[in-house]
Amino acid sequence: MRRVLIAEDEPALLECFCEIVAGLGHECVRAQDGHEALALARAQAPDLIITDWMMPGHTGTELIHLLRQEPALTRVPVILLSAARPPQADQQAAWRFLSKPVALDSFENAVREALELVDQLSAPLSHRAQPDAEVSPLALVREAMLSWVAHEIKSPLAAATMANQLALRGLDNQDEPAALKRRITVVARQLARMDELVTSILDAARLQEARLELDLEPLDLSQLVQQIVEYWRELHPEYELSIRDGQHLVVEADRERLRQVLDNLISNAIKYGGPSKTVAVGIQATDSDVSISVTDRGKGIPPAELHHIFDRFHRVAGQGGRGHGLGLYIAAALARLHGGSLTVESEVNYGSTFTLRIPRRAAS
Ligand SMILES: Nc1ncnc2c1ncn2[C@@H]1O[C@H](COP(=O)(O)OP(=O)(O)O)[C@@H](O)[C@H]1O
Ligand SMILES: [Mg+2]
Repeated sequence: MRRVLIAEDEPALLECFCEIVAGLGHECVRAQDGHEALALARAQAPDLIITDWMMPGHTGTELIHLLRQEPALTRVPVILLSAARPPQADQQAAWRFLSKPVALDSFENAVREALELVDQLSAPLSHRAQPDAEVSPLALVREAMLSWVAHEIKSPLAAATMANQLALRGLDNQDEPAALKRRITVVARQLARMDELVTSILDAARLQEARLELDLEPLDLSQLVQQIVEYWRELHPEYELSIRDGQHLVVEADRERLRQVLDNLISNAIKYGGPSKTVAVGIQATDSDVSISVTDRGKGIPPAELHHIFDRFHRVAGQGGRGHGLGLYIAAALARLHGGSLTVESEVNYGSTFTLRIPRRAAS
């Protein structure tokens, strides 16, 4: 199985191409514009690149020239596709040019031939195992981030598109209003997922560049925790969410950021909490600090993973649950920004406790 990167800004077409490539038994990496294609090519070292000529970001020809400057990618064959007729020189920059609309047969043949060529060249190409060797660490982080974002956005986008197509077809077929409503609800939910993701990405970037400022105010912590727990009870009535508290505690903190941290801890406790369906939230105070703990009786986290779960994008493999691995990274950074910390204790098959500790009064 070979890896084929396809850059095409028309999603329906991209899907068709991918289906064909997958039908030939290869893995498909999708890019919707030239920038994304370049980032993915660097990050994933494809064996073949198929690119549209006219795309946002870099055009297909620019992409080819940029790829030729990357030591790890100079020899990857490129198939250029276009509805317009690019200048001869542009066509020749590619290994092969195909004009759109492309017949299925010629597309398949071009892919087969290109990959045969790759097989013949594969020995000298073995250095591609380290595709990023000559890229600076910062660039690497950016590229990895870009391909990660592209990947994460893809699934809600694909789901929304599909649901939307079904809704449109349903309108033509005069389907039941209830069926239409269900599909439109799917679209709305996927849009909300994308919105959440983009917000998280922006937060993470601002935190990393130390550009995020807290909006500190004295607030009633017990009341805030109560509100948050009520919200989650309404959302998941099947869960038993308890609060261990009692005191009336005032802290100086950023209300919305605190809510964001606790929302993530509770959502994780629910997502990864396993069958017990109980989550306990506790508040404790000393003279100087307050601690809010969120405990579940779920799957727990293996010891080797404990140090990594606060890393950006890190998710424990095989735990299921839908997420992006940004929540704890953001939560820990927000805790530090408050002059506090976020810690975890966990035992596999027994459960986890995350504890947010912040000073009662922000350091001035
Ligand atoms: N309460 C928990 N129990 C078990 N695993 C957890 C828990 N909270 C977080 N994790 C693990 O830590 C990872 C990172 O969490 P987070 O950054 O919030 O990402 P996300 O919720 O998007 O998956 C999760 O993917 C999961 O593997
Ligand atoms: Mg989370």
